[in-house]
Amino acid sequence: MKVLITGGGGFIGSHLCDALLRDGAQVTVIDNFSTGSPKNIAHITNEIEIISGDIRDVALMESLTQKADLVLHMAAALGVSRILENTLESISTNITGSEVVLNAATKFNTRLIIASTSEIYGKNPAQPLSEGDDRVVGSPQKLRWSYSDAKAIEEAMAFALHQDNQLPVTTVRLFNTVGPRQTGQYGMVVPRFVASALKNDAITIYGTGDQSRVFCHVYDAVRGILLLAKTEAAIGDVYNLGGRGEITINELANNVVRITDSKSKLSYTAYDDAYPIGFEDMQRRVPNISKITSAIDWQPEHSLEDIISDVADYLREKS
Ligand SMILES: NC(=O)c1ccc[n+]([C@@H]2O[C@H](COP(=O)([O-])OP(=O)(O)OC[C@H]3O[C@@H](n4cnc5c(N)ncnc54)[C@H](O)[C@@H]3O)[C@@H](O)[C@H]2O)c1
Repeated sequence: MKVLITGGGGFIGSHLCDALLRDGAQVTVIDNFSTGSPKNIAHITNEIEIISGDIRDVALMESLTQKADLVLHMAAALGVSRILENTLESISTNITGSEVVLNAATKFNTRLIIASTSEIYGKNPAQPLSEGDDRVVGSPQKLRWSYSDAKAIEEAMAFALHQDNQLPVTTVRLFNTVGPRQTGQYGMVVPRFVASALKNDAITIYGTGDQSRVFCHVYDAVRGILLLAKTEAAIGDVYNLGGRGEITINELANNVVRITDSKSKLSYTAYDDAYPIGFEDMQRRVPNISKITSAIDWQPEHSLEDIISDVADYLREKS
């Protein structure tokens, strides 16, 4: 099995590489290392092919896709801070780049998994969120929504190519996926909290901390993605992939302090101080994962304790 992973030098992509190598696959990575890092795949450089390039390069994507049995499209610009600071480049990667990936897979009729996101649902208050639920997003001038919009366009292109050209594509909507190798640099909450806790620095919570999320270990997410890729019946369909156990950001911070045995205190910053005026966040984001758990033999297995401990171990090793 020859697998092409776009964004394979990133957080989720690099764990997909590890899992696929364990399964005996031949792996090729294409990454421009904008947010990913060669360090994420340094331990396997001799076992995989690494192409340093951009998914918007049509000729390159076509030549790589032609050689692949499966494409896992993980490359994207993400993270609230990155989207706000590099909005145009992010839109270009997430729309134009995805279009190139989708068209190449269509041309060679290659099995494709695209990584979408819980951001698709925006601020829809109907929780838990199911695949058919509405998108409720704010004004386009609130630039965080450009990520949700771009991913929605990508999903729509994928669905249309499946309908019109029989593209064998499955869409996976990932909810807050966390684990080793994720960077806190672009606004991801768990690595940011754990990094502060390990230094006994204040843990900064945006807003009141009453907002809640559900976290999924990257090992569970990777297992789910690879199972979906093997499931014929999943072609043309869309699945939420997330963990279980809703937790407020205050509770998360307290858990991080306890599990890392830290002396950190919690501190609070208004959203308007952390992000541009008018920034909007969602109060809750809870996945309904009943569709994926009945479609494939998959359940999230790792607890929040596992996630925090694994992130802490990774950050300790790195420092
Ligand atoms: N981590 C999460 O919680 C989460 C949640 C929802 C969706 N997702 C989706 O999962 C996928 C993987 O995310 P991640 O968390 O691993 O992020 P990541 O930033 O670690 O990985 C993205 C990778 O894509 C690469 N990349 C960016 N633009 C590129 C371009 N133009 N050409 C080639 N490579 C490019 C980056 O260098 C990086 O290695 C993304 O599509 C993301 O939208 C992630």
